Amino acid sequence: MNEGSAVKELEGQVVLVMGAGRGIGQATAQLLARRGAVVGVADLDAESVAQTTAAIQQEGGSAHGFTLDVGQRDAVLAAARQLRQRGGRLDALAACAMWIRYEPVADVRDETIDRMMGVGLKSVFWAAQAAEECMDPERGGAIVTFASPVADRGHRGTAVYTAVKGGVAALTRQLAIELAPLRIRVNAVTPGATPTPGAHRIVDEAGWEVRRKATPLGRLGRPEDVAEAVAFLVSERSSYITGEILHVDGGLTAGAF
Ligand SMILES: NC(=O)c1ccc[n+]([C@@H]2O[C@H](COP(=O)([O-])OP(=O)(O)OC[C@H]3O[C@@H](n4cnc5c(N)ncnc54)[C@H](O)[C@@H]3O)[C@@H](O)[C@H]2O)c1
Repeated sequence: MNEGSAVKELEGQVVLVMGAGRGIGQATAQLLARRGAVVGVADLDAESVAQTTAAIQQEGGSAHGFTLDVGQRDAVLAAARQLRQRGGRLDALAACAMWIRYEPVADVRDETIDRMMGVGLKSVFWAAQAAEECMDPERGGAIVTFASPVADRGHRGTAVYTAVKGGVAALTRQLAIELAPLRIRVNAVTPGATPTPGAHRIVDEAGWEVRRKATPLGRLGRPEDVAEAVAFLVSERSSYITGEILHVDGGLTAGAF
């Protein structure tokens, strides 16, 4: 979209972005703020919360930082309430946080399942509860969750991640039905292979090259590509879209290539 016509499209809106300290969540928080939203920057890592919040404020945007664990119900609900108090309303939540370990299914233990489920899946339940409690039932709002290509097809070594993201995709459709009477739309984005600090921990240079070659559009994703889709899904432009999984993946999951 032409940035000119999108400028300040989200003026007056208040959005909580969870996992906004770096990577796709950070790019999302920054883009939403540029479009005029008051943004809640929530992350486990206090330093990155401070950095993202400061970066938004330096650009003239409005941001409030929250250091929290998105797997903790009380923490997510408290942040949503505080943000609503500071911004006067709550319009959208983006549940972007994730922590990943790849390993063969034989090596999987409770600690990995519990942590990944907590960050990736429980956080969506808490986001839904925060939306129910804090959004205006007349005006409604939007939730954006983060699925993954692993929710569409299997990959070696990703069993727990696949279970989490498959759960996120199913839960997104479920919540779209359950929250529709409150006018809360619930959609997911599926990023393709997108170099971020988190992804660099688990993918090496050879792995990026394989992913680039497998992507029909011929390049890896940028955090901004995904942020743009989130901005659309929280905006009025998508007011009749709910229960959708929007792939922002350069065609990676569209078919064999
Ligand atoms: N990058 C990709 O290629 C890719 C592909 C498909 C899906 N995704 C999804 O997109 C989302 C963003 O991915 P990314 O690559 O930007 O990740 P990233 O690891 O770079 O950033 C994730 C952020 O979540 C935060 N976080 C982790 N645990 C947390 C917790 N318990 N509470 C609060 N915050 C926590 C981290 O501190 C970090 O700032 C994730 O849901 C990921 O699964 C990414």
